[in-house]
Amino acid sequence: MISIFDCNDWPLWTEKYIHPMAYSENKNIMIEEVGPDIIQFPLFTEEFCDELISFLKTKKNTTNQITDYNEISIMDLGLFEAYQKAFIDYIHPYIYEHWRLASDTYWSIGHTFISKFDDQLKSNLGFHHDESMVTLNVLLSDSDDFEGGGTFFKKCNKTISPKKKGWVIAHPGSITHLHSVKPIESGTRYNLVSYLLDETIINKIKK
Ligand SMILES: [Fe+2]
Repeated sequence: MISIFDCNDWPLWTEKYIHPMAYSENKNIMIEEVGPDIIQFPLFTEEFCDELISFLKTKKNTTNQITDYNEISIMDLGLFEAYQKAFIDYIHPYIYEHWRLASDTYWSIGHTFISKFDDQLKSNLGFHHDESMVTLNVLLSDSDDFEGGGTFFKKCNKTISPKKKGWVIAHPGSITHLHSVKPIESGTRYNLVSYLLDETIINKIKK
């Protein structure tokens, strides 16, 4: 049976785990600008989020990775291959559309991890920039499962979260969007955070 970790049958995987609204040919219609250069769009189905959280909960019993730290890399989870395919087909087109990227730019996935916050593991992330060109934040939890959290952006004095489970917020990661993470007030909140890198620039600097 297909799972979030088995993406050999990519059409079947996307049918089950990619949000039906993410298929839209007209990405512009799906992009909602929720702050200055901060965009929201649909990405994963609720099924994807539920399976991932269920897996993390079982993993908690065998390792301390998600309890000792409040994050675990998708590499360690075995989710990188599926995420990379989702990035190419369903994430990059939105980034490309909104930021009007040049057609010869080549983007890659940097550090990508699941974060877990609750009343024991509170966020203490003060104002910072990310090591990314663009940062993605996918909400994996049901909004009824927690209160609080979200990304606070200094430039607009606003806390922003994806509106629903499986939806993503994207914002420039360095220089322009200084941000902090608001603490969880109750419940448990899981997010998938992904740092996207513009390899075109990196490769030019290396030359
Ligand atoms: Fe950040």
